[in-house]
Amino acid sequence: MTLRISELAKRYGDATVFEQVSLEVAPGEFVAVVGESGVGKSTLLNCMAGLDSWDAGTVVHDGIDIGALDAEARALWRRKHVGFVFQAFHVLPHLDVAQNVALPLMLLKQPDPARVAHMLDAVGLGGLGERLPQQLSGGQLQRVAIARALVHRPALLLADEPTGNLDPTTAAKVMDVLLAQTREHGASLVLVTHSEAAAARADRVLHLSASGIRP
Ligand SMILES: Nc1ncnc2c1ncn2[C@@H]1O[C@H](COP(=O)(O)OP(=O)(O)OP(=O)(O)O)[C@@H](O)[C@H]1O
Ligand SMILES: [Mg+2]
Repeated sequence: MTLRISELAKRYGDATVFEQVSLEVAPGEFVAVVGESGVGKSTLLNCMAGLDSWDAGTVVHDGIDIGALDAEARALWRRKHVGFVFQAFHVLPHLDVAQNVALPLMLLKQPDPARVAHMLDAVGLGGLGERLPQQLSGGQLQRVAIARALVHRPALLLADEPTGNLDPTTAAKVMDVLLAQTREHGASLVLVTHSEAAAARADRVLHLSASGIRP
């Protein structure tokens, strides 16, 4: 999918988080977004997914202006086309690992246990499907979140610090999985990261600041 963001601005009252943010992500492209803590990287990612609102500018996916959709249409669009790896995982504690990964398929009314098992294998969690999240390590939880974000083959994957809580070896493995899975079905990937190693693997690195986003 092609993502086109034009002149985006986000404010809280009088405080501007960022403005003049324009960028384009091509189908299958991997773009890393870096920038200091608090500069608005998570906020920008949330705007890309239509999970947050903005004060000026547009977010357009394959010609669909998601700011113009009502909340329900936006939620339906997001379910179908976007996978999101949250900075804080957001794995549901009362569902087991396989149920967490299956969630996007359940919401789309397209249950597919074989696909769930495939994704668990792909992220190295085969055999752990019946565990509860509390019985997993931080690195394993991160991989549950990645399997869940990819299980419905979204055209756009948005990942917020997906290796932030991991040791370098596990982080590299998680990046391998993320890249293999997005490349496998030609998805675009926008990755927010503080990790130079992770950003180095991107097709393009963009630096976010209060006054815009630049190479
Ligand atoms: N509800 C809110 N009211 C006012 N300011 C807010 C609110 N939510 C977030 N902010 C501010 O918006 C800015 C951007 O936050 P955001 O979480 O997007 O930063 P970030 O770049 O992802 O940082 P980090 O690298 O630490 O994750 C921060 O300065 C934060 O304090
Ligand atoms: Mg953040």
